[in-house]
Amino acid sequence: MTKRVVLAYSGGLDTSVAIRWMMEEWDAEVVCVLVDVGQDPESSESFEDIKHRAIAAGAIDCVVVDARDEMAEAFCAPAIMANARYEGKYPLVSALSRPVIVRHLVDQARKFNATAVAHGCTGKGNDQVRFEVGTHALAPDLEVLAPARNWGMTRADSVDYAEKWEIPIRATKEKIYSIDENLWGRAIECGEMEDPWAEPPSEPYTLTRVTNLEPVELTITFREGVPIAIDGIVMSLADLIRTLNHRAGSTGFGRLDMVENRRVGIKSREVYECPAALALIAAHADLEDLNLERDVHHEKARLEPRWAELVYDGMWFSPLKEAIDAFVAETQRHISGDVRLRFEAPGVMRITGRRSDKALYDYGLATYDAADTFKHADSEGYVRIYGLGVKTWAARQGAKNTVPRSK
Ligand code: ARG
Repeated sequence: MTKRVVLAYSGGLDTSVAIRWMMEEWDAEVVCVLVDVGQDPESSESFEDIKHRAIAAGAIDCVVVDARDEMAEAFCAPAIMANARYEGKYPLVSALSRPVIVRHLVDQARKFNATAVAHGCTGKGNDQVRFEVGTHALAPDLEVLAPARNWGMTRADSVDYAEKWEIPIRATKEKIYSIDENLWGRAIECGEMEDPWAEPPSEPYTLTRVTNLEPVELTITFREGVPIAIDGIVMSLADLIRTLNHRAGSTGFGRLDMVENRRVGIKSREVYECPAALALIAAHADLEDLNLERDVHHEKARLEPRWAELVYDGMWFSPLKEAIDAFVAETQRHISGDVRLRFEAPGVMRITGRRSDKALYDYGLATYDAADTFKHADSEGYVRIYGLGVKTWAARQGAKNTVPRSK
């Protein structure tokens, strides 16, 4: 029996071949969903061109969804609030876009009365996990198909397959890099970078080519944890991210070269360019230094890596992630203020100032000059009692082990 499948379509070789392959092998009727999360269509193709390719490959329809503002507001904003960097580094570029796509896949599956959704991921990556776990969280009844995990074709085989079925692809048998792109940045894999010792070539970078040798200084305004303006100019978060990608990226800021642990047990060398993401997280974290009460700040710092891991591991829609979101949201009520950033080619960023009406920084308490309001004498008893346990321990048990003996 023919089954109707909604495919997450990118317009690339794999998902184009997947349309025909599922029709032939699984008797599927394929509806494509192309979710615009801020990727630049490759080689200046328009989404209309990509849509025509889907139809030429055999899809019964191809729906294009503009999810750029949704990506910014519902996915990048929480990542900023959580200072989210997987393994302390990667700001979750691809990991954030998959749940956006999943939402729309499920939505279109309902509209088209489909019984399955499909993706073009292989069996070695994280994205299959994100698509499948995400879909099942939103729609436990939908089947998830992964044709590229089943077909056993090499890239060259796929190109031949496309030729045989007259699918108008642009890809060639040699593809050097695998690039995934959205508003939050670009992830670049493959080619010579598969050797972790090899320096990444400059060719695949687009956002972080140095085109500006002048320093760029700008001020980001945050309201309740979310950036709302650059240099006082209020704009949508999607526009703010795009502007910052451009301005910070023009000085070469925003590159990462790292080895990371995939969910499936593989270490992989990854190269990213994500100027806005890195700048906004750094600025946000800096404002938290100024405004968050100490215990809340320390506890939040413990939860942040967990949040990033959950999102990386495909658990965007999960109870623990939602619970941490609630904690994080509560901490952001007073994270409003300005942070000034200075970018200098090649690729250096410094935070040069921060201010807020809600700051917990108190000049009178902090200063060493005449304006000092701190009661110094109070510290005497405070420190004595604070250190009392250690003093007792040292006297009775500890000192002989910790003080070096003179010979
Ligand atoms: N390793 C990153 C992640 O799992 C990026 C994967 C992006 N895929 C790509 N084709 N470059 O989030």
